[in-house]
Amino acid sequence: MDVLEAIKSRRTIRTFQTAVPPKALIEACLEAATWAPSATNQQPWEFIVASGEDLPKITDITKRHFAARVKERPPFDQVPDHCRERQSEVFAAMNQAVESQGINTQELYADSLRFFNAPYGVYFVTHRTHDYQYQVSVAAAIENFLLALVSHGLGGCWQGAAVICQEELKQHLGLAENKILLAGVGVGYPVDDAPLNNFRRNRATVTECTTWLGC
Ligand SMILES: Cc1cc2nc3c(=O)[nH]c(=O)nc-3n(C[C@H](O)[C@H](O)[C@H](O)COP(=O)(O)O)c2cc1C
Repeated sequence: MDVLEAIKSRRTIRTFQTAVPPKALIEACLEAATWAPSATNQQPWEFIVASGEDLPKITDITKRHFAARVKERPPFDQVPDHCRERQSEVFAAMNQAVESQGINTQELYADSLRFFNAPYGVYFVTHRTHDYQYQVSVAAAIENFLLALVSHGLGGCWQGAAVICQEELKQHLGLAENKILLAGVGVGYPVDDAPLNNFRRNRATVTECTTWLGC
């Protein structure tokens, strides 16, 4: 598959088939993740792949502590208006899709905390440093991973919500204090015609977000 085709056909998948993709496919996508650029090639990422009986053990921790941890988060008040509008837009589209799929938003919220019932949950971990460079390097690895999923007929949902309960998850996973769980990605085969995998997402135009200098 052509790179641009993979980039443009990737979308967040929130409805998964129950079939479990072979471990070798997940490994191949993680290998693609490791080819991401990183600050001075330090490759500051670690991956934790959970499936089978281990997956609900981990997501139960998130379910148990999520409400309390969300309350502790800093206020969402430094967001530019245009970003807030885009957020409202995606929530509205998602809610509409949820209703047409015959589930309510509370159910979706509960599902989201168990990776939308995906057969794999993949956590991306880095070291805590004062610099932001490790975090952006791992973000590049996550995008590589998502694109590789597309090329193998898989889909994923990058979830900030999956790592909100940092301390509890780190304890369960035996991760040192100086590690950070940056994201969890639910992975599986997409249900191609599910409304939640098909609602429209908009993008601002290049003109809206670009300043050209000297050209
Ligand atoms: C940092 C980050 C955190 C995200 N967290 C969540 C999440 O917790 N739950 C969720 O359903 N989607 C989450 N997403 C997916 C975004 O909602 C999605 O990428 C966005 O709406 C654009 O849609 P697209 O990926 O289909 O293009 C997250 C994406 C990123 C990059």
